[in-house]
Amino acid sequence: MVPRFVIALTCQPVAVAAANTGGKPPIEWLPMDAAAWDERYAASELMWGATPNRFVAAELADLPPGRALDLAAGEGRNAVWLAARGWTVTAVDFSGVAVAKGRRLAEAVGVEVGWVVADVLDYEPAPAGFDVVLLAYLHLPAADIATVLSRATQALARGGVVVVVGHDVNNIADGVGGPQDPSLLYTPDAITGHLDGLLVDRAERARRPVAGEAGTRDAIDTVVRAHRS
Ligand SMILES: C[S@@+](CC[C@H](N)C(=O)[O-])C[C@H]1O[C@@H](n2cnc3c(N)ncnc32)[C@H](O)[C@@H]1O
Repeated sequence: MVPRFVIALTCQPVAVAAANTGGKPPIEWLPMDAAAWDERYAASELMWGATPNRFVAAELADLPPGRALDLAAGEGRNAVWLAARGWTVTAVDFSGVAVAKGRRLAEAVGVEVGWVVADVLDYEPAPAGFDVVLLAYLHLPAADIATVLSRATQALARGGVVVVVGHDVNNIADGVGGPQDPSLLYTPDAITGHLDGLLVDRAERARRPVAGEAGTRDAIDTVVRAHRS
C-alpha cells in the first residue's frame, strides 16, 4: 500500500511536501494509481484551479476550434477552457473523482465536454481523429510516456497540433513542486523524441511562477508544441 505522505508529494509546492516529510527533502516519488488520485482529488476543491495552464493557453489560443483530446485531463481546467472557445473536447482521466469535478466545472461554465474515465495506457483514440491533442503534467515511467505519446501522435489529423507540458527534470534542483524522481520528469528532447513524423514548433524549458507560503518561486516546465503537416 502507498503511504499517504508519499501520495501527497506529487505536483505540489515544496513547502507542503517538506512539511509532510518533517522538513527533510521529499522522498522518492511512487507512481499513483487511480484510487490514490481519487483520494487526493476528493480531499480538496479544484486542485489545479479553474483556469487553463498558462502554456496550454498560449499555445492553443490562436487556433480555430476543432476536435481536441485532453489526455489525463484531471478536473478539466484545460478541457473546459477549450470547450468554452468552441472546441469539441474529449477529456480522459482514470480518476472518476477528477472527472466528476470536471463535469461540475463544465456545467458551471455552461459547456459540454465528452468525459471518459479510462487509463491513458488502455485508451486508444481514433487515428487522425483530433485537431489538437494535449498532455499536461502527466508523469509516468518512460516506457509508458512513450506509449501515450505514440498514440497521441497517431491521433492527430493533418495540420493537427500536439501540446505537451510537464515538470522538467531541472525542476528538481532549480524549481518548485512536482515529482522528485528524475525518471518521471520531462526534457524537451525526450518529449520530441517520441513525436515521430511531426514538425516541432517549440521545445524548450519555461518558467512558471508558483505562489507558496514562502513567497513566489518559479517552477521549471518542459513545453513542447508540434504539428502534423
Ligand atoms: C497533475 S494532474 C494534471 C491534470 C490536468 N492535466 C491539468 O493539467 O490540470 C495528473 C493527472 O493525470 C491523471 N493520470 C495519471 N496517470 C494516469 C493514467 N495512467 N491514465 C489516466 N489518467 C492518469 C491523474 O488522475 C491526474 O488527474
